Order: sequence, then C-alpha cells, then structure tokens
Amino acid sequence: MHTCVTNFQPHRDLASLPCCGRDAIQRNLSVVRLAGWGSWARITQSVVISLIVCLYSITMSKQHRTESKQHRTDPVTPIRVFRPDPASALLRLARLCAGPVERAQRALEHLQQRLFDSWLGVSTQESGQPTRQPGLVESGDNRPYDGCQWLPVRRALRDLAPCSSEVSVDLGAGKGKFLLIAGRLPYQAVTGIEIDEDLALWATRNIEQSKRRLRAQVVECITADVMEWPIPDDASVIFMYNPFIGPTFRTAVSHIFESYDRRPRKLHIVYDYPWEHDWLLSTGRVVVDNVWPRSWPARLRWWLDGNVIVSYRVVSEKEREHPSPQMRGPSFRSRLALQRWSMPNDQRFE
Ligand SMILES: C[S@@+](CC[C@H](N)C(=O)[O-])C[C@H]1O[C@@H](n2cnc3c(N)ncnc32)[C@H](O)[C@@H]1O
Repeated sequence: MHTCVTNFQPHRDLASLPCCGRDAIQRNLSVVRLAGWGSWARITQSVVISLIVCLYSITMSKQHRTESKQHRTDPVTPIRVFRPDPASALLRLARLCAGPVERAQRALEHLQQRLFDSWLGVSTQESGQPTRQPGLVESGDNRPYDGCQWLPVRRALRDLAPCSSEVSVDLGAGKGKFLLIAGRLPYQAVTGIEIDEDLALWATRNIEQSKRRLRAQVVECITADVMEWPIPDDASVIFMYNPFIGPTFRTAVSHIFESYDRRPRKLHIVYDYPWEHDWLLSTGRVVVDNVWPRSWPARLRWWLDGNVIVSYRVVSEKEREHPSPQMRGPSFRSRLALQRWSMPNDQRFE
C-alpha cells in the first residue's frame, strides 16, 4: 500500500490506515516528537514527577512498616488500620530531599566561584589567613574578607541599568571580586576601597590580570579606611558586601548622605547581606527599590533570611516625606521579598 507523504496530516490520514500500520506510524511520530526541544521539558517534568511518586510510595510504605513493627513488639495495643497520611509523608519526603538539595546547591555555588576565577584568570577565594591590620582585628566592626557571589551581584547591577557616565564604588573591596564583576559592565569607573594592604594589592593584581575582559573605562582599588575616605560626588552605585557594622558602618553611610546632599542625583546603595538594614531604614534617608537572592541557585523562600541583596535609593530630607513610587519586582516572589525588606524586620545575622 502506498501512502502519500507530502502534506501528511496525522489526524486525517492515520484514520484511513489499517490498524497495524497506524500503530507503527503513531510510534514513529511520537519518537519524532520526542526529539523536539519542547519535549525535553516534558521528559524532565515526567522524570521529576515519577521520582516524587517513587519517593512518596517509599515513605508511605516505610510508615506502614513502622506501624506493623510497632504492633508486633506491642501486641496488646489494638491493631490500627493503616491509613495513608499524605501530609506527614510529604513532610518526610521534603526532609529526605533537603540534605541532597542543600549539598547540590553548595556544590553549584562553589563551581560558580571556580568558573569565575578560571574564566578571568584571577584568584578571589578567601585564603583563610587572618588580616594583617591590627586595628581591623581590634575593632569588632570590620568583617573579614569573603568574596561576593558572581551571578547574583551581576544580576543586581544589571537591573540598575548601568551606563557609561556612571561610577560604581565598593566599600571594603577585598580581593576585588565586585570590581571585576562591575568592571565587566559599561561603567565609566569602578573604584574599590580596601583597608588591608595585602588584599588591596591582591585586588590590583586581579584587575591587571583580567584587564582585557573589562568594559569599564577605569577599574582601580585604593588602600584606605572608609572612615577617612569621602564618597566621590559622581558615584551612582555604592556596593557593600557586609564589610563593617556598628559605628564604622554609620560613618561610611553618613559620608554617602553627605555626598548626596552636596550633589543630589540617582544614587543607590546595593547592600549584600544587609546586617544594618534596620538602622539604615531608621535614618529615613533611603527607600528600598529591589531585593534579590544573594546566592545562585536561589534557595526556596530565600527572602525569609538574611541571604539577600537589597538595593536602597538615597532620598533627600524633603523626599522622605513623599517618596516616589518604588520599583516593583516583576515576580510574585520578588514582591514578597520587597514587602519583607521595605520595613525593619529584626532579621538576625551571624
Ligand atoms: C566581606 S569582604 C567584601 C569583599 C568584596 N567587597 C567582595 O564583595 O568580594 C569585606 C572587606 O571589607 C574590608 N574592610 C573592613 N573594614 C574596612 C574599612 N574600615 N575600610 C575599608 N575596608 C574595610 C575587609 O578588609 C574585607 O576585605
């Protein structure tokens, strides 16, 4: 039997074929469909659903076995008819998955850091060595070096739409990881301030090493204490990855407000792991614009702990009474995050 293959329409033409031929063609068609890109999503979905069903059945049968065993050891207690309890089984399932998911997330985070370093030919990993600055150790305000996370910080900066007339500053630059991330965006200048000479030297070396991959016109790291360093009046993004707390933080932020008051402009504080969030809001000089997860891949309900990056827009004394509308996160989760971080929230940081 000959079937015309040009203009073949499965629904119309298959109906006219004998049963065995129809089956064979339908099998082949499903193979062809499976080869399409869209089907990969469906395959993954089916695999995930099957896995969940398997794990669910395992937990249910485990629950059943435990109850039967209990009855064998204690025959006095009347036999309880086994009734599946989906809620507790799902809870167990979630607990069962939590460990492996957490480990997978950590592995991906680590891989991301390694990829960043090897791609740019730099070293931004923390060495575990204590800082050499005695003042830094004595004053409990200053946090030790730890590099920020590449993809979340890049995303936060890109959402602020950097342009070639803007200047970005990192207070507490460490080995310059932020400088390299921001340096890949079209800023006019990216400047880092680092109190520890060794770390500042390391940052300068990293900048040199990755120069040909940077897009910003100037990328530099200055050795200085933020307490004595005035914020430049052309800065539009001030980044901080929890570099200091307490009086040091307050002095640094007062320098930011002074710079804004000298020259009011679009100025954002991008605060990674915002330890001083409540105090910063209490100044009344900032409005929360956006919130992002500070790790990639993002944790489930990431906005409920301190692992966030918050973008605060600096406002004038006058504007604080009538703040202009905030930027709205596009997704439901971003809106929830914004809701939680637009107010003081007593978040505990460690
Ligand atoms: C958590 S690390 C952040 C590193 C970098 N910003 C990044 O994201 O990769 C904090 C850094 O702030 C520096 N730091 C602490 N107190 C400082 C101060 N008073 N002035 C300048 N830098 C300071 C520390 O030496 C440390 O390297």
